[in-house]
Amino acid sequence: MSTQQHSSVGIDQLAVYVPRYVLELEKLARARGVPAEKISIGLGAHEMAVAPPWEDTVTLAANAAERLFAQGWTRPEEIGLLLVATETAVDHAKPASIFVHELLGLPANCRTFELKHACYGGTAGVMIARDWLLSPASRGRKALVIASDIARYDLHSSAEFTQGAGAAAVLLSAEPRLLELAPESGVFAGNVYDFWRPLERREALVDGKFSLDCYLDALSGALADYRSALNGRGGQPLLERFDALLYHTPFPKMAYKAHLRLAEVDSAARIVDPEECARLAEKTYAELVEPSLTMARRTGNSYTASLYLCLAWLASQRAAALPGREIGLFSYGSGCCAEFFTGRFAERSPEAAQKIAAAELLDARRSLSVEEYERCATTAVGEPPTTDGTGAFFFAGVRDDKRHYARAQRALGAGA
Ligand code: HMG
Repeated sequence: MSTQQHSSVGIDQLAVYVPRYVLELEKLARARGVPAEKISIGLGAHEMAVAPPWEDTVTLAANAAERLFAQGWTRPEEIGLLLVATETAVDHAKPASIFVHELLGLPANCRTFELKHACYGGTAGVMIARDWLLSPASRGRKALVIASDIARYDLHSSAEFTQGAGAAAVLLSAEPRLLELAPESGVFAGNVYDFWRPLERREALVDGKFSLDCYLDALSGALADYRSALNGRGGQPLLERFDALLYHTPFPKMAYKAHLRLAEVDSAARIVDPEECARLAEKTYAELVEPSLTMARRTGNSYTASLYLCLAWLASQRAAALPGREIGLFSYGSGCCAEFFTGRFAERSPEAAQKIAAAELLDARRSLSVEEYERCATTAVGEPPTTDGTGAFFFAGVRDDKRHYARAQRALGAGA
C-alpha cells in the first residue's frame, strides 16, 4: 500500500446509464463476413450498446444523473457546478449541459457548460471540478460532471465493431464517499489526426492503426510527466503500487496493449530484463486490469464515459474490498490529450459502490437483430419510446428547429 498523499477532494458518488438496446457482436460479424474470433479475441469485444432514436447525448447524461440522485444522498440544490463532457454534442452552439440542467431541476446559480476534447473530455471535467472544489467559488457545494456519448462509425467500416454508447454521472465533493483523488497527475498533449468528426458528419473518421500508436505514445508521455509531478517521491514501481489500473477502453484489447506499455515504461525506469517485464505484464493484467473491463466488453466504446464505466464496474463488483485500495486511471482523448491520475477508495466506499448497480443495467437490455441495429444507426430524429423502455428522460423530437425532451411515464432503470 502506498504512502502517497491524497487531498480529501474526490468522487463522492458515481452512477452510470446505458441504452436499453444491445447488439451481440457475433451477429454483426456474421452479417459482415468477419471471423467472430477477430472481434471476441482480436478486439476482446462481445456486445455493443445501441442508442434508439429517442436517446441522445442529453438523455443519456440526464438518465445517468437521475440514477445518481435516486441513490438518495444528494439533492439538486446542492450542485454548484454542472459540466457535461461529450464529443457527440446535439448542437454547435447550445450546450447539452443546459438541457440537462433543466431536466434535473438544478438551481439557477449553478455554473454550467459543455466541454470537449474527444474521449478526454470527462477527465477534463473531473479535473476542473476538483480545482473548483478547492477554490472559494464552491461555497460548500458539490460538482456534477457527466460524461455522455454515442460512438458511431460508418456501417461496414472496420471501426463499426468498436461503436457503443453510455454515460457516467460523477459527483465530486470535499468529503468523498467513494474515491479520494491524489493532487498529482501526469499530462501529455499534442496535435495528431488519429480520430476526428468534421462538423457536418454524424459518424467519426479514424486512422485506426495510427490511433493505437497515438494512444500508447500519449500513455508513455503522461507517465513520464507523472513521475516528474511526484518529484522524486515516486520510486515504487507502478505495477507494485496499485491495486487496479484502469485505462480508457475503446475496445478491451486496447487496455491490454496499454498495460503492456505501462509495464515497459515502468520497467525501463528500473532497468529490468524486457522478457521479465512482458511476463510481469501478463501476470498483473489478470489481477489489475481485467476486473474493470466487463462493462466496456458489453457496451463498446462510450468515449468520454469509457474510463468511468470501468471504474463503476470495478467498484460495484468489488464493493466490500475497496477501502484503502489505491488505483491508477489513464484517460486518452484523440487529437490528443491524455492524463494519468490516481485515487484511493474511501472508508465509506462499499456503500457508495453498491448503489451503482451496474450489472442490473446490462441485464435489463433487449437484444437487437442486425436489421434493427441498422435502423437505429440511420435514424437521426427522435421517436416516442416503445414498450422496450427508456431511462427517466427521452428525446421527443425536433419542432421549429428546436430539440424537445420529456420525462417518461414508466422508466426502466431510473432507480439505483
Ligand atoms: P481492423 O483492421 O479491423 O483489425 O482494425 P486488425 O486487423 O488490426 O485486427 C485487430 C486484432 O484482431 C489484431 O490483434 C489481429 O491480429 C486480431 P493485434 O495484432 O492488434 O493484437 N485478429 C484476430 N484474432 C483472432 N482471430 C482472428 C483474427 N483476425 C485478426 N481470426 C481497429 C481494428 C481497432 C483499428 C478498428 O476497429 C478501428 O479503427 N477502431 C476505431 C479506432 C479506435 O478504437 N482506436 C483506439 C485508440 S484511439 C482511442 O482510444 C480514442 C477513441 O476512443 C476516440 C476518442 O478519443 O474520442 C477512439
